[in-house]
Amino acid sequence: MHNVVVIPGDGIGKEITKSVQQIIDASGVPINWIEAIAGLHAWEETGNQIPEDTVDLIRTHRVALKGPLTTPVGEGFKSANVMLRQLFNLYSNIRPARSLPGIQSPFKDIDLITFRENTEGLYIGRERWAVQNEEAELTGVITRKGSERVIRASFEFARKQHRKKVALAHKANILKISTGLFLQIGNEISKEYPEIEYRDIIIDNLAMQMVINPWQFDIIVTTNLFGDIISDLAAGLVGGLGVTGSANMGDDCAIFEAVHGSAPDIAGKNIANPTALLLSAIMMLNHLDEHEAALRIQKAIIATLSDKRVCTPDVGGTGNTSTYTEAVCAFLRRE
Ligand code: NAI
Ligand code: MG
Repeated sequence: MHNVVVIPGDGIGKEITKSVQQIIDASGVPINWIEAIAGLHAWEETGNQIPEDTVDLIRTHRVALKGPLTTPVGEGFKSANVMLRQLFNLYSNIRPARSLPGIQSPFKDIDLITFRENTEGLYIGRERWAVQNEEAELTGVITRKGSERVIRASFEFARKQHRKKVALAHKANILKISTGLFLQIGNEISKEYPEIEYRDIIIDNLAMQMVINPWQFDIIVTTNLFGDIISDLAAGLVGGLGVTGSANMGDDCAIFEAVHGSAPDIAGKNIANPTALLLSAIMMLNHLDEHEAALRIQKAIIATLSDKRVCTPDVGGTGNTSTYTEAVCAFLRRE
């Protein structure tokens, strides 16, 4: 039995987490779901976006599946997602982009994975006015430790999953010291993995190459800001954020989440697409060594997405969250 903390979150979060829990339960993987709250409704109930109880539960069980969280609008609200990443030192943001049948895109057969450094770089929030309203300063920090752990994670993943290539993206021609350090560490670590084809690539060239010939890439590892942009570009190649999952991984804790937001415009209407969160849940099952069930659910998604009668409207379907969920569950029970 696996203990998993589930945070339904805000907006469509409840609907899509319920769907994903039903599908995983139908796959037969024994999971003890432990519910916790975070986000806007947690703040409304407790005055805290991430209540202590939630922190304790994640700390105890170390694996969480998280729906989208609405960041309250107004001064002084830090994103709860960013807070969770920092609290649990989730230094790798892993975002696979894989073509799915039945999902519209000009690109076919894409299969690439971005490892984005998740805790430092230009996203540490160190900004200030050098001269009020005239001159703004932004500081980025890249450390040996922070770079080593995410680069090593990408190579270890490549080795375990039998992937062939790692490309490290940087801008060391201009940002010579900071992204230069990241590149230098990549060059060093790559020598420990001779079976994996390694190259480095300048970030702007990578952006162009990903559009001209995305099939040349397998795993991409990069710093925080570059990874944020490039992982969305990769999602765009396979149909967008609605059909891509993600994992935030540290050494002793992992949080799996969809990359889309809480979609308040469609909340409560039973038309939200649970696929992105379901793909994140498949990553979670692999993390829990439930590889066989992960593969079965992947097959069930592929089969179900090709039947537009049961799919949600955002992917051109005429069904809803319930019909899609039931179809995936039925496939799993039949197999
Ligand atoms: P959003 O991703 O919630 O919505 C953008 C558009 O995509 C909307 O039209 C929405 O209906 C649609 N959409 C999103 N997910 C969908 C799904 N599963 N099925 C069908 N349609 C879907 O982005 P938006 O509107 O910018 O943000 C809304 C709230 O979500 C904000 O409070 C924001 O802070 C939060 N947010 C949270 C994230 C997280 O928890 N990881 C990530 C991004 C935004
Ligand atoms: Mg982003």
